[in-house]
Amino acid sequence: MTDSIRVSTPAKINLLFGVGALQPDGYHEVASLYHAVDLLDELKIKSSSSWSIELSGNISQAQKDAVPSGEDNLVVRAAKQVAKMSGIESPHPVSFEITKNIPVAGGLAGGSADAAAALIAVNELWCTGLSGEQLHTAAVALGSDVPFSLIGGTAIGKGRGENLEPIEGVKKFNWVLAFSEIGLSTPLVYRRLDEIRTSRGEDITAARNLDVPQKLIDALRSGDARALAAELRNDLQEAAIDLRNELSEVIQTGKSAGALVGFISGSGPTVAFLTDSAESSQGVCEALKAVGIEAVAVSGPVVGPAGIQALGN
Ligand code: C5P
Repeated sequence: MTDSIRVSTPAKINLLFGVGALQPDGYHEVASLYHAVDLLDELKIKSSSSWSIELSGNISQAQKDAVPSGEDNLVVRAAKQVAKMSGIESPHPVSFEITKNIPVAGGLAGGSADAAAALIAVNELWCTGLSGEQLHTAAVALGSDVPFSLIGGTAIGKGRGENLEPIEGVKKFNWVLAFSEIGLSTPLVYRRLDEIRTSRGEDITAARNLDVPQKLIDALRSGDARALAAELRNDLQEAAIDLRNELSEVIQTGKSAGALVGFISGSGPTVAFLTDSAESSQGVCEALKAVGIEAVAVSGPVVGPAGIQALGN
């Protein structure tokens, strides 16, 4: 019998992030163009006598400390969601070993990627047989980015991000991700955006145009990195930079080293750069590292949680 499962799960960047009206429930209507890139966390799960989470990988101790270690961690909540939807009242505990390469609170949906992997792995471990649609419902309950993290690739997300429309035929693009030592709180960034808009006399509850430009989708399908660079936009960028002024210097450093464009991913603080080749990405990485900023070259799109491996017992 299988009692151990391993799944790898990618980070995402947002190529477009439009923030619309603040809703009565405290969430904002969004239009997001999600794009999964090959920066991967790995999740290994096992049946155990108690719930536990062990973290390792390429993140700092401060980042590890920022991850909830108990039952409020998203992976445990994901497992319990699978149990609930399968009518299991007292689920058998699971131990999670997470090898983290995706920074915590980095605007790269690292926690959501782990949660999506947990949904898939636990469904396999427990042989609960939840359908793709049921897993999507479970994902919605866990967070705005979890539904996309289940599928990967490139997709438009509307509503809170959960109404997904995959975009097929996207060519491969080269990106560089520049990390920050300390994460940014997503609710704080949204709140700052509301403050900025209010200070300009704008009505934060009014509907806004959240259409995804056809030119952006055409650029993704043609593989024209320069055309794509001209279409990228993130409504949260101004708020993230307002909270972390040094991020504008990071963007400048990458652009000076040859990136076509630099922008905040999601609610930040990770800065993503689009380049026109793998060689150019290396140059941008080196320039960032030379001024003490950790950076990696990645490419996308990549598939969602993959490589399910039953490890036997
Ligand atoms: O759903 P998730 O846990 O990722 O959201 C974290 C927080 O980000 C929410 O509590 C909310 O403050 C903010 N948010 C929002 N509008 C969204 C998504 C998130 O205001 N569409």
